[in-house]
Amino acid sequence: MFIKRKGWFVFNFISFILIGVLAAGLLFYVKDQSARLLYTVCPNVNSEGEDLLVTARQETPSAQYVSNEDFSFDVALTKVWLEDERKNIYGTQYDITFANHSGSDLENWRIRMTAPPGSLLDSYWSGGFTFVDDVLSVLPLDYNSTIMAGKDITFGFIMMTQMDSFHFADCTIEFYREVKIWQLPLFWAGMAYLAAVLLADLVTFVTYIHLRKYRQRQIQDRRIINESLQTFARIIDAKDEYTKGHSLRVSLYAREIARRMGLSEEEILNVYYIALLHDIGKIGIPDNILNKPGALTGEERNIINQHVTIGGRILKDFSSIPNIADGALYHHERYDGKGYACGLSADAIPLVARIICVADSFDAMSSARCYRKAMTMDYIEKELTENAGLQFDPDIVKYMLEMIRDGFAPVSGVT
Ligand SMILES: [Fe+2]
Repeated sequence: MFIKRKGWFVFNFISFILIGVLAAGLLFYVKDQSARLLYTVCPNVNSEGEDLLVTARQETPSAQYVSNEDFSFDVALTKVWLEDERKNIYGTQYDITFANHSGSDLENWRIRMTAPPGSLLDSYWSGGFTFVDDVLSVLPLDYNSTIMAGKDITFGFIMMTQMDSFHFADCTIEFYREVKIWQLPLFWAGMAYLAAVLLADLVTFVTYIHLRKYRQRQIQDRRIINESLQTFARIIDAKDEYTKGHSLRVSLYAREIARRMGLSEEEILNVYYIALLHDIGKIGIPDNILNKPGALTGEERNIINQHVTIGGRILKDFSSIPNIADGALYHHERYDGKGYACGLSADAIPLVARIICVADSFDAMSSARCYRKAMTMDYIEKELTENAGLQFDPDIVKYMLEMIRDGFAPVSGVT
């Protein structure tokens, strides 16, 4: 499978926990940052103690009162006139621009300025004004309560004083920043991670569906192979009326030996397939010899023995199951080298043939024939033990004896 189901579940579980923690952290951060007071005081003098407003009035009608990278507060003293010559009262008009240079919207802004004693607020615009004890407070109106990022607001007022120019004793600017969650890089990093996890989930799901179809196809193919080879085995066994079900039983014993030897699943399956066809050469033996009820002559025995070479020839071009001809050709070899058709011995005999040799002999001894009864398990165990290292591979005999003792063999009902 593309990925282990448990591993994938753990990956998703951890990912969504992380995303949840990140989301909670971001929301908390945004709430905290949105409520934070950014600036509280801006004195009306610069770092050299110079009165910026007075200087500005002398040189230019507009002066930058205070600014930093987040905002600027520009005061324009636009007009001064003598209102009442007798009482020496001057009228002074200020137009003020409050600009938001930060990347966030500014909320709940308010500005307080202290005017010279005895000043009088004459008129104002674009703000909510109060003037109490020489303190001028400017509050937002509904339409300018938020200063959007990169925008500014303007407001103004006219003050009556007894001097032809004045500056505010102090100025306090307060505002809160409205932080939006989508303005934070971490938010987009989290979204990218979430998207990556969902995409990976989608890819895994699609791959899983494809693999499932492939797996179903593989199971179907395997069933076709299995049933085809079993059919062949029945055809082979039908040739020899004394040995009904022989090939099927031998293949079951051989498969179990292979399993107990610790071979891989693929190797076990191959041993099973090869064992099913181990006697295929009997197709080339005349029925009257194969089914002769009495003792065989030497000539007839030689003809029957040819079934191994015939089987080898039949299967030599069968390439989709590796070494399938080995089972047919070598299953009558003996471990001591006295078998046929090639006289191979010990490990020179292919493993699958050594396995089939033991399974084949066990089935021959444990099946009844019309001319004799099935041999007892005690007799068979004795035969196998005595012939270990002679006819049979002793390691394989060990597994066959184990199968007899734990009741796996002989199998019943396979015909
Ligand atoms: Fe045989």
